[in-house]
Amino acid sequence: MKERVALAAGDGIGPEITAAVLRIFTAAGVPIEFEPVEMGYSVFQNGYSTGMTPQAQETIERLGVLLKGPMETPKGKGVKSINVTARKVWNTYANKRVFRSLEGVDTPFSQAGIPISLTIVRENIEDTYGGIEHFLTHDVALCRRLITRPGSEQVHRYTFEMARAQGLKRVTCGHKANIMKLTDGLFLEVFKEVSKEYPDIEANDIIVDDLAMKLVRRPDQFQVIVLPNLQGDIISDLCAGLVGGLGFAPSANIGDHVSIFEAVHGTAPDIAGMGIANPISLLMSGLMMLRHLGYGDRAERIEAALMATLRQGIHTPDFGLRSTPPCSTDQLTDAIIGNLEAPSNALEIQEGDSRAKPRASLDRHRIIQTPSVKSEVAGIDLFVESDAQPGEIATKVGAILPPFCALTLISNRGTQVWPTGSMFTDCVNQYRVRVEIGKGHTACEYDMLAVALMVAEHIRVCSTEILMRFGGNSAYSLAQGQ
Ligand code: NAI
Repeated sequence: MKERVALAAGDGIGPEITAAVLRIFTAAGVPIEFEPVEMGYSVFQNGYSTGMTPQAQETIERLGVLLKGPMETPKGKGVKSINVTARKVWNTYANKRVFRSLEGVDTPFSQAGIPISLTIVRENIEDTYGGIEHFLTHDVALCRRLITRPGSEQVHRYTFEMARAQGLKRVTCGHKANIMKLTDGLFLEVFKEVSKEYPDIEANDIIVDDLAMKLVRRPDQFQVIVLPNLQGDIISDLCAGLVGGLGFAPSANIGDHVSIFEAVHGTAPDIAGMGIANPISLLMSGLMMLRHLGYGDRAERIEAALMATLRQGIHTPDFGLRSTPPCSTDQLTDAIIGNLEAPSNALEIQEGDSRAKPRASLDRHRIIQTPSVKSEVAGIDLFVESDAQPGEIATKVGAILPPFCALTLISNRGTQVWPTGSMFTDCVNQYRVRVEIGKGHTACEYDMLAVALMVAEHIRVCSTEILMRFGGNSAYSLAQGQ
């Protein structure tokens, strides 16, 4: 029986490169029947604010696997990126991208004889991609960056399982935990916890800026790198550059129930319709999909044909030697098909990465449980708008507070400006005022919000954050200079 997979051709060059991949799959005898779904620009234009029709959502959730061309989201406010929405609504928590040196694709590393074989796993749901943003004042914007223990655990476990299944021996966690001690600190802490369950795999960590420097000097030092969402986004484009550009960067968005396979690049509007788009990135994403579905033999045969084509120096205008004339998408596709060996009739189904299990009739969200720990309220951070000096704010707020709590800190853009600080710290009109519960007193969230109301009678409060202690440890960061 043929496997069924949802197919969204996408916008811009999407239909051209999707057609090329389908031609190659057909010629290689890939036993998949594609069900086209409507997603992308025209769907937005037809009034669907998510960028996909309800039928598309139903089909993808039923089939569990989507091969997706690049898509354009209309510019302006009111709609969110279809690409990010697709990854998030189906909880495809791990974005796996594979970067390898390819013969026929010249790079400084291939010239220096340094082979590259890197897998990046980017956390795909959390971080600043939550898109939780507000203006606190007319001039001050805030983005909330959520990193969670269950989310980190899912992506780290996937990474170690994938490394083990593929015989990879080293996993590195990239992060910025020296600055974002709580968020990236949690991502790193969970990495270390999960790594203990995989003693056969060497686990280490690296600060992301050091990682960027080391990747451009000696990329062969790394095998698998797992990163939070935004850092993973940037580092994976850097890696695409190492192996010859976006035309060679495939990706898989892996979830427990739905997985999406797509090229890293966008719709390339500058060359759409010209018949010269490079289909290799989408083809390689399709090969990741075949391996995921257990069709490793078909993937290997197509990959061998692709490599042979690259060795022959056949290339679209975006890569390859200037001394050989570029070809069209169709000519490159024909060349790959010409290099396919005759398909064997016996199809061997191999164990996939982790075959997604579609669930068609869910009526409840899964709530990922974690063990509970003792929690206590420690105070409240009040984000206030004011043009006053920090000392004036301290006097005003200090006079209002009830006796069980005290003003302990005022910071501006994260730097402490009261009770101590430097007059050289420039301030904007938005301060963080920290109120902490005094020793020997206890209070609950309600009490702290009541404090916020008292302060709000005298000074504009634009946001609040309750301060907590979990398991006896304070669960909030210090200000710079505190
Ligand atoms: P882009 O990746 O579409 O293009 C950047 C440059 O790379 C352009 O010069 C383009 O011609 C070239 N390029 C990209 N893919 C190519 C290919 N397969 N063959 C030959 N040349 C290729 O990035 P850009 O211009 O920033 O974004 C264009 C649109 O794509 C935007 O609407 C953006 O939102 C969307 N986009 C969609 C993505 C997705 O569907 N996953 C990812 C990135 C962008």
